[in-house]
Amino acid sequence: MRAVWYERQGAASEVLVVGELPTPDAGPGEVRVKLEASGVNPSDTYRRAGRVPKEYPRVVTNSDGAGVVDQVGAGVASRWLGQRVWLYNGQRNGRWCGTAAEYIALAVDLVTPLPDAVSFAEGATLGVPGMTAHRCVFLAAPLQGRVVLVTGGAGAVGHYAVQLAKWAGATVIATVSSAEKAARARAGGADHVINYRQEDVAARVREITGGALVDHVVEVDFGGNLAACLAAVRVNGSVAIYASTGDRTPKLPVGELMQKNLSVHAMSLAGVPHESRKRAQSDITRWLAGGPRLLSVAARFPLAETAAAHEAVERGGKVGTVVVEPQR
Ligand SMILES: NC(=O)c1ccc[n+]([C@@H]2O[C@H](COP(=O)([O-])OP(=O)(O)OC[C@H]3O[C@@H](n4cnc5c(N)ncnc54)[C@H](OP(=O)(O)O)[C@@H]3O)[C@@H](O)[C@H]2O)c1
Repeated sequence: MRAVWYERQGAASEVLVVGELPTPDAGPGEVRVKLEASGVNPSDTYRRAGRVPKEYPRVVTNSDGAGVVDQVGAGVASRWLGQRVWLYNGQRNGRWCGTAAEYIALAVDLVTPLPDAVSFAEGATLGVPGMTAHRCVFLAAPLQGRVVLVTGGAGAVGHYAVQLAKWAGATVIATVSSAEKAARARAGGADHVINYRQEDVAARVREITGGALVDHVVEVDFGGNLAACLAAVRVNGSVAIYASTGDRTPKLPVGELMQKNLSVHAMSLAGVPHESRKRAQSDITRWLAGGPRLLSVAARFPLAETAAAHEAVERGGKVGTVVVEPQR
């Protein structure tokens, strides 16, 4: 099969190799997926660039994908054959072979049926972004009647967090940096939008909530937004952190955290407990079935241009998920 891999870390155009690898077979408990789309997440680029120590001699890049099951291993029901699916953690947790390839074989546990109305490219946006958003939102469940602040509410993860929190019955406040991103957050269901570059986020949250503040924050930049985040969340509230790019080692005001009785959950999808990941898969299936949803493909590249796809993610400014199409 054709695949794209790296054997040393560095710049995408220097280390990503396009070539042929043996087509994998589905082992016991596994399915093989003929991949139509491969999602590129920031974490795939960090791994390739060397921000995370290299785990395997060779890594087929990209963790997320979508396609059709074309082989099942021992112990896997034959009803999976021909099933359209989306998948996550392809290149994670002991697996060197990701989705920048024509085929992937992986545990059936990591694949989820993809509705016919959702394209493969859209399906490849559900893995890391959708699963992360689910974890960060539902850590605070039940959400009916609660107020959730989603920072970066137009981002790949943030936009799913806005939609899932709204689906769960919360009032959603999103922060964004432009009018276009405000429109995107509103289209996802945000009830209130704050431009965090132009407005005082905590003051606007106080105003919107009549001083009650928010119950839960889904935070894209905990270190960078620390003061505003803590000022916006109520006593006994919670914060779910999935990134902290503005300051990765912030000085924590522990007294304030204690006075507010805050629950602070830092998360990384690869290590989320199995039970929570299964719940995310089934909730995302129900959410997709419940109506037209906004699944955003930022750009599409053929497999041979995977390096350009990584560069598009690294440049920033993407709206949604950058996708590689392994069959073209
Ligand atoms: N922990 C995990 O398991 C996990 C999973 C997925 C992603 N991540 C990490 O999460 C980050 C975002 O990933 P993504 O794929 O969603 O990226 P993305 O699509 O680029 O979205 C990030 C969004 O956050 C906004 N933003 C950046 N800094 C902000 C700030 N200080 N306050 C409010 N908004 C801010 C950006 O918009 P503006 O720049 O216009 O404000 C952008 O809309 C990456 O660092 C990624 O590695 C972690």
